[in-house]
Amino acid sequence: MRHSVVLYLVLLPCVFIFGCSYLTSVPEPEPPPAQVGAGAAETAAQPAEITTPPSEKAAQAAPATEEKTAQQPQLFEPGAFEDPEVCSTCHKEIYADWSKSMHANAWQNKWYQPDLHLAHEETDGATDLLCGACHAPIAARTGQLPPVDGSKFDETSRRGISCDFCHTVTGVSQMFNMGHISEPGIDKMGPRGDGRSLYHEVKSTEIHTRSDFCGSCHMVIHPVTGVHIIDTWQDWKNNEYGKQNIRCQDCHMTPGPGVNKTPGRAALLGKWRDNLAYHGFIGGSSYVQDALGNAEQAELSREFLRAAAKLKLAKQVSGDGTLELIVEVHNVGAGHKIPTGTTYIRKMWLQVEVVDRGGKVVFSSGHVDDKNHVDPEAAFFRVLFRDAQGNLTGKSWRAHSIGYDRRIPAKGMDSETYRVSLPENGDYQVKARLMYRSFAQKSLDEVFERTGQALPPVVSVEMAAAETQVRY
Ligand code: HEC
Ligand code: HEC
Ligand code: HEC
Ligand code: HEC
Ligand code: HEC
Repeated sequence: MRHSVVLYLVLLPCVFIFGCSYLTSVPEPEPPPAQVGAGAAETAAQPAEITTPPSEKAAQAAPATEEKTAQQPQLFEPGAFEDPEVCSTCHKEIYADWSKSMHANAWQNKWYQPDLHLAHEETDGATDLLCGACHAPIAARTGQLPPVDGSKFDETSRRGISCDFCHTVTGVSQMFNMGHISEPGIDKMGPRGDGRSLYHEVKSTEIHTRSDFCGSCHMVIHPVTGVHIIDTWQDWKNNEYGKQNIRCQDCHMTPGPGVNKTPGRAALLGKWRDNLAYHGFIGGSSYVQDALGNAEQAELSREFLRAAAKLKLAKQVSGDGTLELIVEVHNVGAGHKIPTGTTYIRKMWLQVEVVDRGGKVVFSSGHVDDKNHVDPEAAFFRVLFRDAQGNLTGKSWRAHSIGYDRRIPAKGMDSETYRVSLPENGDYQVKARLMYRSFAQKSLDEVFERTGQALPPVVSVEMAAAETQVRY
C-alpha cells in the first residue's frame, strides 16, 4: 500500500511556524492537523500551478503584512522512506558518491548544527521545521522533528537528503522553501524509467530532469519578511543558462566541470548507459570535504571553484607614481552568480599585492592575518542582511532586508579599482587573487565561544589569479 497524503495549501497571515512574534497584531492561527500516512484519500497530489517566488522588489516593499501561501508539510509514518543502505545493495557507485556529498551530510553537518541551534534559541523553536524541511526532509515528513536535537530521528532521517527522499518525489508545488510532493512506496521515480529492477518499480518523471527539482530547495525565502535568503534557482531561471535550459544537473550531476560523459551502469544488472548521473553534487565545500576526510571530493570542489572565475588586470602609472590598477572579476563557469547559495556565510574576496624588486610589499589588500581573519577592508563579493535593528548580519533568520549584495552575475563581470602610490622609480610585480572560503573564521570562533565546539580553521581556496608588472 502506498502512503498517500492530502496536501494542504493554506493561507496563513503568519506562516505556519516561523517568527510569529513579528506580527503581534495578528492572532496566531492553529495550523490544520496534518494527515498521517494511510487513511487519507488517494488524491491527485499535483497542484494546478507551481507557486513561484514573489519578486525580490515586491517582497521587500510589503514584507510583514503580506499574506503568503504556506504549505503544510506532508506527513507520513516513520519508516515510510527507505534507508539508503537498502539502495546501496544494487546502486553501489551511486551510493558511494552520494554518501560523501553535502546532501548526505545536510543534517549531521557539524557546521550546520550550531547555526540551527542558534536559530532555534532565538526564535523559540519556530525555525525547527523550516530548516529541517530541507536539511532533514525525511525527519520533517515523518514527525521526527521537532525536537531539534534530533533525539527522535531514526537512522534514515539522520542521513539528510537521501535516495528515497529524492526518488519518491512526483512533483513540485512551490518553487521555494521545499515544495516537493512525496509519494513514498514501491515506485521509484527517475529520469529514464526504462530500467527494470527486481526490488522496486521504475517510473519516469519529468521533474527529475528539470532544474525545478533542485530549485525548490535551492531557493529560500524568509517566511515572515520575504527576504530572499538563497536565490540560486531564480537567478539561474532569469539568466542565459536558464533561458537555454542548461540545467543544474548538467553541471552538478557530472563528476567535474566540462565532464559530460560518464558511461556505466546505474545498478547491478542495469542497462549500459553512455552517460550516468553522478551523485556527488559537488559545489564549493572543499574545506568541509577535507575536514570529513573526503580528499577526492575536496579536490573536485576546488576544480569547480577554479572553473567559475577568471581575473583580468588593467594598469596605468601616472607621472607622480600613482598606479591605477583595475581588477576585473569574470564569472565564466557558473550557471548563477558567484558566489551563490549561503553567500552570507561564505566569503569571496580579492587579494592584491604590489611588490618591489627587492621583494618588499608596498601595497596589500585582502590578506589573511595570523588569526586567520580576512582584512576587513578587502573587496568582498557576498550578501549580508540587515536585522530588525538595522545591523548587518549573516544570520538568515534575523533578515529584515538585504544590507549588502555584491556578486558576479553568470557570464558577467564586476571590477575593483586600486590606487597605489609607488614609493620610488623601479619595477614592481602586481598580483591579484580571487579567494573563497566556506565560512568566516569569525563565525567559527563564535561557535567555539558559544558551544565549546572547536572546528578546524577555515581554509582559503584560490579561484583565479593574475599577475602583471609595472614600471615607474
Ligand atoms: C535489487 C537491486 C535494487 C535495489 C535494492 C534498488 N534498486 Fe533501484 N534499480 C535497480 C535496477 C536494476 C534499476 C534499473 C537501472 C537501469 O537499467 O538503468 C534500478 C533503477 C532505479 C531508478 C530508476 C532510474 C531511472 O532513470 O529511471 C531509481 C530512481 C532507483 N532505482 C532508485 C532506487 C532507490 C531509491 C532504492 C533504495 C530505496 C533502490 N533503487 C534499490 C535495482 C535496485
Ligand atoms: C528551502 C531549503 C532550505 C531551508 C528552508 C534552509 N536551508 Fe540551509 N541550506 C539550503 C541549501 C540549498 C544550502 C546549500 C547552499 C550552499 O552550499 O551555498 C544550505 C546551506 C546551509 C548552511 C551551510 C552548511 C555548509 O555545510 O556549509 C547552513 C549553516 C544552513 N544552511 C543553515 C540553515 C538554517 C539555520 C536554516 C533555518 C533557519 C536553513 N538552513 C533553512 C537550503 C535550505
Ligand atoms: C554552467 C554550470 C552550472 C550550472 C548550470 C549551475 N551551476 Fe552551480 N556551480 C557551478 C560552479 C562552477 C560552481 C562553483 C563556484 C561557486 O561555488 O560559486 C557552482 C556552485 C554551486 C553551489 C555552491 C555555492 C557555494 O559556494 O556555496 C551550489 C549550491 C550550486 N552551485 C547550486 C546550483 C543549482 C541549484 C543550480 C541550478 C538552479 C546550479 N547550481 C546551476 C556551475 C553551475
Ligand atoms: C538530491 C536528490 C537526489 C538524491 C539524494 C539522490 N538522487 Fe538519484 N537522481 C537524482 C536526479 C535529479 C537524477 C536525474 C539526473 C539527470 O537527469 O541528469 C537522478 C538519477 C538517478 C538514477 C538514474 C541514473 C542514470 O543516469 O541512469 C538512479 C539509478 C538514481 N538516481 C539512484 C539514486 C540512489 C540509489 C541514491 C542514493 C544513494 C540517489 N539516487 C540519491 C536526484 C537524487
Ligand atoms: C530537499 C532539498 C534539496 C534538494 C531537492 C536539492 N538540494 Fe542541493 N542542497 C540542499 C541542502 C540543504 C544543501 C546543503 C547541505 C549542507 O551543506 O549542509 C545542499 C547542497 C548542495 C550542493 C553542495 C554545495 C557545496 O557547497 O558544496 C550542491 C552542488 C547541490 N546541493 C546541488 C543540487 C542539485 C543539482 C540538485 C538537483 C538535482 C539539488 N541540489 C537538490 C538541499 C537540496
